[in-house]
Amino acid sequence: MTTRPLIIAPSILGADLGRIEVEAERIKASGAEWVHVDIMDGHFVPNISFGANMVRTLRKVMGDATLDVHLMIEQPDRYAGEFIEAGADCLNVHLEARHQVARTLASIREAGCRAGLAINPATLLKHAVPLFPLCDQLLCMTVNPGFGGQAFMPEVLPKIREARETILRQNYNIDITVDGGVSDDTAPGCVAAGANVMVAGSHLFRQPDLTQAVSKLRTSAASGNISG
Ligand code: DX5
Ligand code: ZN
Repeated sequence: MTTRPLIIAPSILGADLGRIEVEAERIKASGAEWVHVDIMDGHFVPNISFGANMVRTLRKVMGDATLDVHLMIEQPDRYAGEFIEAGADCLNVHLEARHQVARTLASIREAGCRAGLAINPATLLKHAVPLFPLCDQLLCMTVNPGFGGQAFMPEVLPKIREARETILRQNYNIDITVDGGVSDDTAPGCVAAGANVMVAGSHLFRQPDLTQAVSKLRTSAASGNISG
């Protein structure tokens, strides 16, 4: 479990992208703390989503909302500055992408942005731990990155638990995000393991009332702190 504040982050990838301004207003009114923005380049992952213009639009429409940007791209160091300039508050870069990870994380922080390290389901925690001093958040993928709407991988939970234990033991100030297949059913286990940021796309956006969906997800996630 974790005593860190619970954060709900709807993933814009699950929204109706043809009505992005309307969707942004809906998220703003939903009570969610953050908005998660998935950037895919067709190289690091097989899919292409959108670029820095999406972040710029969300910043314009959503005022001071916290924009949590997830770069599923190769050479994220080349593009980090552009996303920060567009309005990102948190920038998550993958450990598995082609770049000097430590240098990228440090430069994100130097630019005044929160630095996030994202790891795929198959990546062992021991590769991430040496980078913890450079991180504000650890994003644990609970699906293989690239697409919304995939099934949650419960086999990632022991890694999340180990990450939270390491963070507590070494006294780091790091949020743990879960991303992929997060729902009312899977969120309690994530919180019980020590995650505190719930990214959810298809689960939230397939419900007609987003405000109610966010509030239900918050309640079920919080129940993990009791059961865990
Ligand atoms: C997947 C993305 C996720 C995605 C989650 O590669 O990183 O953020 O939007 O979507 P759901 O919640 O539908 O699994
Ligand atoms: Zn994501």
